Amino acid sequence: MKSKNILVTGGAGFIGSHLVRLLVNKYPECNIINMDVLTYAGNLANLKDVEDKPNYTFVKCDICDFEKVKDVFTNHKIDHVIHLAAESHVDRSIIDPFSFAQTNIMGTLSLLQNAKFAWEGNFKGKLFYHVSTDEVYGSLGDKGFFLETTAYDPHSPYSASKASSDHFVRAFHDTYGLPTVISNCSNNYGSYQFPEKLIPLFINNICNNKPLPVYGKGENIRDWLFVNDHASAIDTIFSNGKLGDTYNIGGFNEWKNIDLIKVLIETTDRLLGRPKGTSDTLITYVTDRAGHDLRYAIDATKLKNELGWEPSLQFEEGIEKTVKWYLENKEWMENITSGAYEQYYADMYTTSK
Ligand code: NAD
Ligand code: DAU
Repeated sequence: MKSKNILVTGGAGFIGSHLVRLLVNKYPECNIINMDVLTYAGNLANLKDVEDKPNYTFVKCDICDFEKVKDVFTNHKIDHVIHLAAESHVDRSIIDPFSFAQTNIMGTLSLLQNAKFAWEGNFKGKLFYHVSTDEVYGSLGDKGFFLETTAYDPHSPYSASKASSDHFVRAFHDTYGLPTVISNCSNNYGSYQFPEKLIPLFINNICNNKPLPVYGKGENIRDWLFVNDHASAIDTIFSNGKLGDTYNIGGFNEWKNIDLIKVLIETTDRLLGRPKGTSDTLITYVTDRAGHDLRYAIDATKLKNELGWEPSLQFEEGIEKTVKWYLENKEWMENITSGAYEQYYADMYTTSK
């Protein structure tokens, strides 16, 4: 790749930090500008190992702050945007839909409009890459997969806000000719994930002998992809994706929640040296999530056939690595679970159940 200035939004979050690490190390000739406002989910500790690299810059900025974003485009001569910044947790969107509309819709619009102004008249060699989710497609029954052509049918305020942002990205491509690309990925897991999400939350609770709150009957199905594989897919699409196109990202790896939870219990107990079955009694069935989508399953054939991308890891290996990472990085977890997150946890798992 030729020398470029790449703006990554939300680079201090879970997926963003993995992507920033990949780009900084793989493209030393490019400048990677990480723009993040550092909400509860943004954590610069996720990027300790790259913060001193000469091609890495962090800018604290809210994507909704149009004038400040404009300065970032000007000061850093941005050529490409990879947009990940978002409110990302479905349960929080049920409690506070406004902040999801603000960040995910208005924030995306602010970035699109800034890219259009900054690049106006010369879109050649520019790219606005929007990172989205499979949740925009809604919920599947027992059979079938989400294709790139599947009609949007979001059910949560989170997925509705992501669907809306996808529509704006396509509208900017179709109306103004902005060079855009979109990817829709399935559930990610791996290191540095905020422990409000199922996998890090449950590993942490198993370590601390706390109840494991399974929504409904635990029969919902999610399609899990190792976060480094999502980052490598974004890199592939960023480098070779067709302008105006959409790519689904996934690893054909569906798990019923309760089966996944049993794998988490078995792996965590084993790595902690506890007898098999120790934490089984922590499973606690609680009231279901409102509007809970039954099943997600991505068909990533297009990405494989057109751009040659495939996931690098089998799930068993990925989950072993992930549990090990959380056990070896207790300090990272403790820094997060002390403070404001404690209050969220107390409210979320007492008042809503
Ligand atoms: P995350 O919640 O871990 O990180 C989000 C980041 O965005 C944080 O660093 C936060 O500080 C930042 N941010 C939030 N609001 C901002 C604002 N107004 N201005 C600037 N920065 C802001 O999220 P994640 O799980 O890493 O997800 C990243 C992206 O990938 C999101 O767009 C999400 O919709 C999408 N996605 C996530 C998954 C998944 O399984 N986690 C799967 C598919 C797609
Ligand atoms: O599919 C991609 C999406 O995956 C991303 O767009 C979202 O940003 C990301 O948060 C994730 O959404 P989910 O809602 O699927 O992830 P979560 O980890 O919150 O929940 C996974 C499943 O586990 C879901 O069926 C709800 C269930 N669950 C979750 C929590 C937090 C529980 O049973 N108990 C819990 O405490």
